[in-house]
Amino acid sequence: MTDSMMAIEIAEFGGPEVLQPVHRPLPVPATGELLIEVAAAGVNRPDVLQRQGGYRPPPGASDIPGLEIAGRVAVLGAGVEGWREGDKVTALVAGGGYAEFCTVPAPQCLPIPRGLDMVQAAAVPETFFTVWTNVFDRARLQEGESFLVHGGSSGIGTTAIQLARAFGARVFTTAGSPEKCAACLRLGAELAIDHRREDFVAAIQEATGGRGVDVILDMVGGGYINRNLRILAVEGRLVQIAFLEGSKAEIDLVHVMMKRQTLTGSTLRPRSVAEKGAIAAALHEKVWPLLEAGKVGPVIFKTFPLAEAAAAHRLMESSSHIGKIVLTTGRA
Ligand SMILES: NC(=O)c1ccc[n+]([C@@H]2O[C@H](COP(=O)([O-])OP(=O)(O)OC[C@H]3O[C@@H](n4cnc5c(N)ncnc54)[C@H](OP(=O)(O)O)[C@@H]3O)[C@@H](O)[C@H]2O)c1
Repeated sequence: MTDSMMAIEIAEFGGPEVLQPVHRPLPVPATGELLIEVAAAGVNRPDVLQRQGGYRPPPGASDIPGLEIAGRVAVLGAGVEGWREGDKVTALVAGGGYAEFCTVPAPQCLPIPRGLDMVQAAAVPETFFTVWTNVFDRARLQEGESFLVHGGSSGIGTTAIQLARAFGARVFTTAGSPEKCAACLRLGAELAIDHRREDFVAAIQEATGGRGVDVILDMVGGGYINRNLRILAVEGRLVQIAFLEGSKAEIDLVHVMMKRQTLTGSTLRPRSVAEKGAIAAALHEKVWPLLEAGKVGPVIFKTFPLAEAAAAHRLMESSSHIGKIVLTTGRA
């Protein structure tokens, strides 16, 4: 094995061009960690925010961007059990994914679901962990309930639609074009509302006979917050996972009080290894069988060689993609 690797560095905060291929020493796995030879790494919107300077890695995490990888176990750190060198693995990482090698705590690793290749496997962790912990843990979405996810064609949205449908919810979504809406319907949404042409509040009221939805997963924030509360049913749960249009809004709490609504949210990256490990275990038990049966799966829009990470970010910022963008290393 070599002692240096190619990685993508954020040379300074700025546009996609600041993503520069560099050579770095191989990271060394600490106790309880694995060193993974990376075959593919998923690209996520939080990587764009990090590149722009708006999302610093948590303490101790690599400065290299990248939150999810698939590859093979290269080295076992001290105390790691249950894995062998050469095993195929997919993992949620707190940073360092845009590289040929990456270290990760063992609890955040999962076997690659049967039937998925490296590119598909690399596109799973960030959105499946996020959707699971927010929609099913925090918001407790139940079979037979109704669910609205904004940004249905995003990496998060395409996962949320499929998982909510697979667990028996009625699924509604918003997306930014007729083509994106059509893709959301193919993934199992009952209604996809083109938010550039239609008012989602009126569309949801009509679709639910005025009752509203039980759970909303929102990444837009800003002006969406009051509108979400208006269409959240009695005992409904609104989960905020990002604020693409701002984190501040004047909200009318009358809906929260009169309809006993819950407003919550979370962010995955700074959570502890133990918490991420608990999410991994739940996914392994409840979602891996669905992935292996082909009932849910990552939607791959485009792959780029690792050295072309800047082009991958340009595509993500164009918002013309549907599903996931993945970087490949040609290794593992
Ligand atoms: N809290 C967490 O733990 C967590 C974890 C992962 C991701 N996230 C967040 O979840 C969101 C989705 O992530 P992703 O990786 O799936 O991203 P993505 O694929 O790039 O999707 C973002 C989508 O948001 C929609 N959008 C709505 N308003 C927008 C605006 N003002 N600017 C840009 N896009 C807008 C766009 O679709 P339309 O054309 O339909 O508008 C776009 O496709 C991101 O905001 C990310 O930060 C949160």
